[in-house]
Amino acid sequence: MKEKIINHLRRIDGFLSGEEMSKALKMSRSAIWKHIRHLRQDGYKIEAVTHKGYRLVACPDKLLPEEIKIGLRTKILGKKIVYYESIDSTMDIASQLAFQGASEGTVVCAETQAKGRGRLGRNWASPKGKSIYTSIVLRPKVLLNEVSGLTLLLAVAVSKAIKLTAGVDARIKWPNDILVNEKKVAGILTELNGEMDRVNFIIAGIGINVNERKKILPEGASSLSEETKRKISRICLLQEVLKQIEDQYLIFQQKGFSSIFDQWRELSITLNKKVKIIESTGFIEGQAVDIDNQGALLIKKKNGTIVKKTSGEVIHLR
Ligand code: BTN
Repeated sequence: MKEKIINHLRRIDGFLSGEEMSKALKMSRSAIWKHIRHLRQDGYKIEAVTHKGYRLVACPDKLLPEEIKIGLRTKILGKKIVYYESIDSTMDIASQLAFQGASEGTVVCAETQAKGRGRLGRNWASPKGKSIYTSIVLRPKVLLNEVSGLTLLLAVAVSKAIKLTAGVDARIKWPNDILVNEKKVAGILTELNGEMDRVNFIIAGIGINVNERKKILPEGASSLSEETKRKISRICLLQEVLKQIEDQYLIFQQKGFSSIFDQWRELSITLNKKVKIIESTGFIEGQAVDIDNQGALLIKKKNGTIVKKTSGEVIHLR
């Protein structure tokens, strides 16, 4: 209902009386007043003047569902959006919702995370109100060994969304770190629930450093505002991320991964580089020559043998 009220106010350039709103939205004037109070608590600036009514003065800079949904150009992703000011991790909530049967495309967003998590058991720094922390429920009909392809799909989508919204060249470090000017600005974590050879659901977790100051980010990381020297709309960026993921996801459902992998190759900064891959058991060095048809990285070692890597930390060597 809050969404309906705010959309109604947004359409009018001036005051809208309580009576007009009550007729249009078929609710009592006291119920409208109650929702206006809640909207103000969310950060909307709404003027109320006796005999004139209500006027929307300003919208909050928050990832509120009612803000994201305006102008969202998707059919599946973001039809349901769950929002938290603060949460341990959006991954946990999205996973709980998926277990309870949440439909594909359900999105969980938060302004800050107390226990944001990254790949390889790391933390994901999640300072408040300046970045994007989101997890999306996907229910792809894929085999377990195809899931790595999906993580590359997400990287392609996020990289394209950043380029379209912030106007910067966003490149992919294998498998799915997003770098601008060789500094990490976004990371993607995919967690899956499945049995033997069947995927029940995947949670696609995306963290993008949007308007954060570099000095409070981990070493080697940056934010889009630092790299572009301008403030980026988190709402527009998230809308574009959802649109790009949906577009790529539809391409994958119709044609498989081949065109996604081609896009990944074009956006990659890992291919053709000398790399060191660090795993729990040790490390290997070589030239990153390609990805295979499941998204694994192919490394050519000094002795000419090609090894395939499906996980691990990549370091680009000079
Ligand atoms: C990485 O290590 O690069 C992946 C980082 C993924 C971070 C995002 S932020 C939203 C979601 N919630 C989490 O706890 N992690 C992911």
